[in-house]
Amino acid sequence: MNYPVWFLPAIGGGTLIAFIAIVHVFVSHFAVGGGAYLIALEKKAYKEESEEMLSITKRFAKFFILLTMVFGSITGVGIWFITALVNPGGISFLIHNFVFGWAAEWVFFVLEIIAAFVYYYTFGKMDRKTHLKIGWIYFISAWMSLFLITGIIDFMLTPGKWLQHHSFWLGFFNPSFFPSVFFRTFMSFLMAGVFGLFVLSFYKNSEAKEKFVKYSSLWVIISIVLMVPFALWYVSVLPVEAKSLVMGKSPEIVRTTKVIITSSIIAFVLGLIVYLKPSLNKAYIAAIIFLAGFFIIGSFEWTREAARRPYVINKVMYSNMIFEKDLPKLQKEGFLKNAKWVSVRNITEENKRLAGKEIFIHQCYACHTIGGFNNDIKEKAKSMSYTALTKYIEKIHKVRYFMPPFAGNEEEAKALAAFIAGDLLGKEIKEVEKAKLDGKTIFEDNCSSCHEPEEFEDLISGWDKAKIRKALDMLEKLNPEMPPYNGTPQEKDTLTEYLFKLSGGVK
Ligand code: HEC
Ligand code: HEC
Repeated sequence: MNYPVWFLPAIGGGTLIAFIAIVHVFVSHFAVGGGAYLIALEKKAYKEESEEMLSITKRFAKFFILLTMVFGSITGVGIWFITALVNPGGISFLIHNFVFGWAAEWVFFVLEIIAAFVYYYTFGKMDRKTHLKIGWIYFISAWMSLFLITGIIDFMLTPGKWLQHHSFWLGFFNPSFFPSVFFRTFMSFLMAGVFGLFVLSFYKNSEAKEKFVKYSSLWVIISIVLMVPFALWYVSVLPVEAKSLVMGKSPEIVRTTKVIITSSIIAFVLGLIVYLKPSLNKAYIAAIIFLAGFFIIGSFEWTREAARRPYVINKVMYSNMIFEKDLPKLQKEGFLKNAKWVSVRNITEENKRLAGKEIFIHQCYACHTIGGFNNDIKEKAKSMSYTALTKYIEKIHKVRYFMPPFAGNEEEAKALAAFIAGDLLGKEIKEVEKAKLDGKTIFEDNCSSCHEPEEFEDLISGWDKAKIRKALDMLEKLNPEMPPYNGTPQEKDTLTEYLFKLSGGVK
């Protein structure tokens, strides 16, 4: 509302962010875990007095440094670039509150880069103790970046007491901060182990390789075990709404949580097999473990983002950059009058659909594409008529908690419905007079957002009219997902007749 929207109808900003975020998160956790992993390998090589182990460690060091310095920095800048374009409102809010957190992160990043270069270029040329110390500086500064960014990222999910006091420290050390820092630390160790197994699978067989395979598989299995309690702690501190989304209210999130659990089990079992028999660390096994690691981290980040819905900053700002505190005003005075980046201020018959489009861009596009593969509004709304959509939009947040409340007045809801039903779905736009409602229309207006008419053949098969009529008085009791139906008794009778017909009557 206060910023223009970068409108890419078929792709959606969310997809862009997801794309770069998953790559960056993978690389950045890699960098942190890699620091600790290199120190551990180097120490092991000294203990075993093995030149070969040392040379493998040095080769790993070169790869880690290239990866973090080049790929890590590019995607790291890229992620803030893209998020700032897709959600300028959210990023601006974070910068205004956490600018010193970011500044500190940059200091540690510079330290990390310097330590990484010194570590690699003095490998084998410096005395062992000092060289390991440089390794520690590299690891600790990388970990400090994780520590600092976690404070800001998890603030978005659980602002906690910040909501009352607006203090930097309360926001930074928010309720999910510690579980998240520990969870991510072990996830970064997991990434290092997963990487080690993968690269080692291409090396020629030797005693040194076998020892490192065994050692790296320990990093995988122990990290997974240690991630579990922190994952549970993480979920336990989520606000009620986010918890219920994760635990079942959002089918999409539940699917992703299953991916995390399955991938962890796969990585754990294969890691254990490789530990017991290092010669089994073939390229394809190591590739499966690697992919499982990628799925764990990708799905975890996606879930954390999705659990915030409908907010970008929980309880403060919705995903569509509208502040929660502005809602009453926008619903009373109207959205278009208050928004900065729209062309229509007053809705007329002629500009109604254009106004609807502008409202869509500012309020729905944050999560819905138009004709894209991801959450396509044309697909999602295809069963709904103009009147059904109008009613749906007005109570959108009540029906579906994960969507923000509609921030506009009745006229604007109608304009938005006219754009979706008329321009996007090619349906007829006409106002229905209340008195003339027939069963089909009542159904479309109130039930079609969740039910297809055909479902009722099974759903209420064998119900008589009295039972159907009674059910209409207490839909919310039949299933907690259903909102109560507030029709007049006469409308309920009409709907009963219609549903009875759909069910195929009493058999
Ligand atoms: C915060 C993200 C978000 C925003 C903003 C959002 N939606 Fe949705 N919407 C979703 C998700 C996610 C689904 C589908 C969930 C599924 O299919 O499991 C959905 C589903 C729908 C559906 C299908 C019916 C249903 O209840 O599943 C309609 C219609 C819809 N949205 C309309 C809108 C309109 C109109 C707006 C703008 C006023 C909007 N949405 C804004 C996330 C959002
Ligand atoms: C927000 C979504 C939503 C809306 C709107 C909705 N329902 Fe449902 N309804 C559900 C869900 C979820 C179920 C569980 C069964 C299923 O998965 O279909 C259900 C189940 C039912 C059942 C079977 C109940 C039982 O005990 O087996 C009936 C009857 C029903 N709905 C009627 C309606 C009618 C009539 C309307 C419109 C006035 C309506 N629903 C609107 C989500 C909804």
